Parts: sequence; C-alpha cells; structure tokens
Amino acid sequence: MPFRSRITGTGSYAPEQVLTNFDLEKKVDTSDEWITERTGIKERHIAKGEAASDLCLEASKKALQAAGVDPGEIDLIIVATMSGDMPMPSTASLLQKKLGAKHAGAFDVNAACSGFLYGLSVADSFIRSGQVKRILLVGAEVMSKFLDWEDRTTCVLFGDGAGAVVIEQTKGQRGILSTRLYSDGTMWDYICLPGGGSQNPPSSKTLKDKMHFVKMKGNETFKVAVRTLEKLVVDTLKENGLKPSELAMLIPHQANLRIIKATAERLHLPMSRVAVNLQRYGNTSSASIPIALDEVVREGRIKKDDYILLEAFGAGLTWASALIRW
Ligand code: ACO
Repeated sequence: MPFRSRITGTGSYAPEQVLTNFDLEKKVDTSDEWITERTGIKERHIAKGEAASDLCLEASKKALQAAGVDPGEIDLIIVATMSGDMPMPSTASLLQKKLGAKHAGAFDVNAACSGFLYGLSVADSFIRSGQVKRILLVGAEVMSKFLDWEDRTTCVLFGDGAGAVVIEQTKGQRGILSTRLYSDGTMWDYICLPGGGSQNPPSSKTLKDKMHFVKMKGNETFKVAVRTLEKLVVDTLKENGLKPSELAMLIPHQANLRIIKATAERLHLPMSRVAVNLQRYGNTSSASIPIALDEVVREGRIKKDDYILLEAFGAGLTWASALIRW
C-alpha cells in the first residue's frame, strides 16, 4: 500500500492584545456596523513585540504536544507566511532554532492567504514520496506590521495569529486525499505589498509612498474570489467522487463571511458544517485555516473518518483546496 500523510496534531496561538471594531472607529472613518455587515469581523488580535516566529513557536508547541511528537523527531519544518521575521533567513529556520528541532530542514512558503494549503500540498508530496516521515507545518502572520493604519479599506480586515499541524506518514485510508493548487499572476496587483523587494527596494521614496503596506482592490478581489471558490469546491469534491452531503465540515479561509456563505450555499451546506471564526480573528491570511482547524478539532466537531474540505483564496492571485479523511 502506498504512503499517505495524516495530520496527527493541531495547535494555534493569537497574541493577547485584542483590537475591536469600536477601537478602530477611533482610528479611521469606519464603523462597527460597516465592518460587521461587509465582512463579519468584530475583533482581531494584534502582536505587541512578538514576531512571526514567536507566534509559530506557541502554536507549534501545542501541535507537537497534541501529536505526542518531540521536536527532535521532526524531519522538516515548513512555515507559510508573507509577514515573516525578516526577508532572510526564513522564519522556518528561526522556528527550528527556537524549537531545538535538531534534525529538521526548514523553509518558508509564500502564497499569501493560500499559503497554508500550498504548504500542506508540499508536505503531503514529501511524505508520500517516502523522503520524510514527520513534518511540522505552520501558517503564521503578523499582518498588523504591514498595514496602513490610516487606510480604512485594509486596516479593518486583517489580524495576527498562527496555526500549526504535525503531519505524519501513514498507510491507512485516513489522511490527505487530494490537494489542488492554482494561480493567476495577471491579477497580481489586486492584492500586493509593492515595496521592500528587488523591484522597489527600501528607500525614502518607498516609505513616503507607503509602499511597505498591503494594497488591495477589495471589490474586484471579492468578485473573483466568490466565482473561483464556488468552482473550486465543486471540482474538488467531484474529482474525489464525493457528494457535498458526505462532507462533515468545510474549513474555508477566513477573509469575508459573505464569501464563506456563498461557497457554502453553492454546496448546499448548512452553516453548522462550516468553520467560521473570523469574527474573533479577522483575516489572518495563511494562519486562518490552521487556526480554524485547531478550533474545530479541540471542540470535537470533527471525528475519525470524517471528510473535511479546506479551501483558500488570496494574493497572487492564488487559490487552493485540500480534501482530508480525518
Ligand atoms: N469603513 C467604512 N466604509 C468603508 C470602509 C470601512 N472600513 N472601507 C471601504 N469603505 C467604503 C468605500 O470607500 C466605498 O465607499 P464609496 O461607495 O463611497 O466609494 C464603500 O465602502 C464600498 O466599498 P467596497 O470596496 O465596494 O466594499 P465591499 O462591499 O467590496 O467590501 C471588502 C470591501 C470587505 C474589502 C470586500 O471587497 C472583500 O472582502 N474583498 C475580498 C478580500 C479577500 O478575499 N482578499 C483575499 C485574501 S487577502 C490576502 O491574500 C492578503
């Protein structure tokens, strides 16, 4: 029987400080009513003096404990992030040091909000090939450091947090059944952070022009996201020979409640079978799916052999899905 990969432990962490919509009303021209109606978000966590690797460490400790795995037993660490500690070295390397994961290779994946599922697909391939046995995959973001706190169209949307999973080699029927990855770079400027890279290296001009902050064409992105995700979830189930009624739980990327509801409606899934926590976290980008997964696992909302579908959409543009038999 060929190898399969299975998630054997989950963990998550969010910084202590909470910023509510009412707090934001005092910073920019917005309202709790607008943010709630348009996005579903009520509050988000904001890191104070913590970098991405610090968030990774806390989430990872919980995931390792849940899996009963020692850091020394990890073969590979993958961190999905676009707000890492620094451009170089990778946040995964910094996490490797903090965990004391002596035998682990380490690298980052950047696919914005789809990053965790891109990382999951890479991890699944590594394990199924037989090359490694145990992977720690973390999605972590400190988005608050890359937001223009004077731009109401973006600063109300994002939050900080991290979610981690331990993925191990198995031979049974349970585990990751399929992953699908897509991108369309023609729409790269729908969501971007244009400054600080080799195209626009840091300078007084990039600072003055606020190029080190997230820019987003929200409404255009919204329309593509709804259309794309509706097709993605239908195609993923079809490819795996599953009916929507056989799905125990949909775990979507948490960007906007209206997008999540549209996807659930396309599958005729009741919201009781959809993981939603964006009211408490905002959009934590690559951390959103592993945080939501950790919560449903710890709440006992998914059980052995359940089919669960994960899906995400974000900058790139990128989108991705994963079907798991728990
Ligand atoms: N408070 C009050 N008013 C606001 C705010 C705010 N915070 N932000 C925008 N507005 C105003 C706009 O200026 C606009 O006013 P106008 O009509 O006078 O011009 C009006 O509200 C409507 O703005 P829209 O952008 O059309 O609002 P929309 O309903 O599209 O909601 C939102 C905006 C929430 C950003 C939505 O478009 C969305 O969720 N987009 C998708 C985001 C997403 O999925 N991103 C992918 C992941 S992110 C990543 O990968 C990093």
